[in-house]
Amino acid sequence: MSQVLLQREEDLFVWLSDKQRVMLVCGSSAKKLLLYALLEEKLKEKNGEFVIFSDFKPNPEYDSVVTGVRLFREKECKAILAIGGGSAMDVAKCIKLYADAPGDGAEGSFLKESSEGKTPFLAIPTTAGSGSEATRFAVIYYQGVKQSITSDSILPDAVYLDGSLLLSLPEYQRKSTMLDALSHAVESYWSVHATDESKNYAAEAIHTILEEMSAYLGNTSEGNAQMLRAAYTAGKAINITKTTAGHAMAYKVTGLFGTAHGHATALINRALYRRMVELLETGNCKVSDRTTTENVMRALSEIAVLLGCNSAREGADKFDKICRDLGLEVPKVSEKELDLLVSSVNPERLQNHPMLFSYEDLKGIYRLAFQD
Ligand SMILES: [Fe+2]
Repeated sequence: MSQVLLQREEDLFVWLSDKQRVMLVCGSSAKKLLLYALLEEKLKEKNGEFVIFSDFKPNPEYDSVVTGVRLFREKECKAILAIGGGSAMDVAKCIKLYADAPGDGAEGSFLKESSEGKTPFLAIPTTAGSGSEATRFAVIYYQGVKQSITSDSILPDAVYLDGSLLLSLPEYQRKSTMLDALSHAVESYWSVHATDESKNYAAEAIHTILEEMSAYLGNTSEGNAQMLRAAYTAGKAINITKTTAGHAMAYKVTGLFGTAHGHATALINRALYRRMVELLETGNCKVSDRTTTENVMRALSEIAVLLGCNSAREGADKFDKICRDLGLEVPKVSEKELDLLVSSVNPERLQNHPMLFSYEDLKGIYRLAFQD
């Protein structure tokens, strides 16, 4: 399914003009945005209105999605607009998917049904990180269990990138979301599913992230706009390849220590990159049967070049330095917690990774990730 990137505010108004009743999925602060007031005014001019849905939390629950679907149907909404970070996007994607599904969603029924999700859907991200606006993936939790939803029909039909929405991002969120985008690009590049197209997206994202990092961290207009673009491009890369061990190993870090998602993925990836280089250099590694040792070495070396380095080893050092220079706190982890982390890794999610790891390998990577 194709997606349109709306370039100007006028394009946004045109997109909204024939939609009439639009479900706006957003956090509670979205109503304070100047963009919200502008969009509401434009909708009113066409006798349209927003039906606001904000009844969800980070790591959204299935029940929140069901509430959203019921509201969508009751108000006879014609389109969905999501303004927010990864959670708002995930909720909006699932409402789109289930709005046309049979039943009312009771007892997890939407999770068992397939649906075409034909409702028009526009995504406006307010963080430069998740890239969710560019992917066919969503994550929700049903009775405490993570549900990974993958469907071409949840890819937003249109995306609008507005750097001014990043102006009030808190510092930790600003840094960690950028690291999420960097992790997406790096993991996509070394994924066993990488293609020429995905590598081009990943390379473009890495280049822009490095180029614009200081302007973005300094909260300049240009830096914000460019980082938003980089996160979107990294999202397009993982839409093709999915993420790899960096993400599979990071989820429990967030669960255990409250480390923000992007920060957690970067801690893992700095260790993963280094350990992969070491294992390849010593010839002591097993690679996935979907790739070859030469391909993995080439990918790690090419990532290093994208990071401005001459060798994979230097590339791993550079990734580590990027994390360190941000001055983020690294959690202290006990031996028992290391074991807990290793046992939490879902082996299915490691299948996109180019290298195979033993229990001890994974434990070593976690140990390295948390070194000061
Ligand atoms: Fe991520």
